[in-house]
Amino acid sequence: MLQQGPRRKESPLQLIVPALDHLDEYIAALKRGWSSDNIAPEETAREELEFIEEDPTGFIASLEDREAKGDPIALPDGTFVARLPGYRRWMWDDGFCGSISFRWQPGTAELPAHCLGHIGYAVPSWKRNRGYATKALGMLLPEVAKEGLPHVDLTTDPDNLPSQRVITANGGRLVKRFTKVAAYGDNLEALLFRIPLPPA
Ligand SMILES: CC(C)(COP(=O)(O)OP(=O)(O)OC[C@H]1O[C@@H](n2cnc3c(N)ncnc32)[C@H](O)[C@@H]1OP(=O)(O)O)[C@@H](O)C(=O)NCCC(=O)NCCS
Repeated sequence: MLQQGPRRKESPLQLIVPALDHLDEYIAALKRGWSSDNIAPEETAREELEFIEEDPTGFIASLEDREAKGDPIALPDGTFVARLPGYRRWMWDDGFCGSISFRWQPGTAELPAHCLGHIGYAVPSWKRNRGYATKALGMLLPEVAKEGLPHVDLTTDPDNLPSQRVITANGGRLVKRFTKVAAYGDNLEALLFRIPLPPA
């Protein structure tokens, strides 16, 4: 019988500020089919690869945009909306293992109807089910709380059970089922969750 050696232990998960030093790993994940965006994954991955090829420093800078200086955002129906302030963090064990982002309107927990939540995350298929998204959200919440919002809202598709578990494991409660604005498609339902934040 084959003797099974101990499973190689990965380094503990960290959230890192995206940097040029780590860009090769990010590019490799994009080329392997991962995308930070689960609404238009292939398009976003292609656009990011083009941006990186043209201007790697500019790409990294664009991931920390607290003044919403970036270009407007295209919704799935082709309409454009103003970008909100936001920033991204990368999940890192021995290498790149996901991204988590936060966007908000300063001074209020309200979001425009087209913005599907304050926080979004995506873990590559080959790094899933290790608790990374759950831990990453738990690590991001104290940072997000510094903006002084009383809570953050997150949305998921009704059948996205892993994402719902990520939210409820971090203190999120289901608020309601709602219909996404028409820019995402006709009568598409989603679930809205809310996580209370401690005072800043
Ligand atoms: C959602 C996503 C980020 C979860 O990442 P992850 O690192 O694998 O999540 P975790 O390992 O922290 O697991 C979260 C929970 O989902 C559960 N889970 C994993 N796969 C599951 C499945 N297919 N069905 C049901 N539950 C599942 C895990 O068991 C865990 O639950 P537990 O805490 O009760 O054990 C990842 O699946 C992903 O990137 N999906 C595509 C993008 C996406 O949907 N983003 C969220 C948009 S709202």
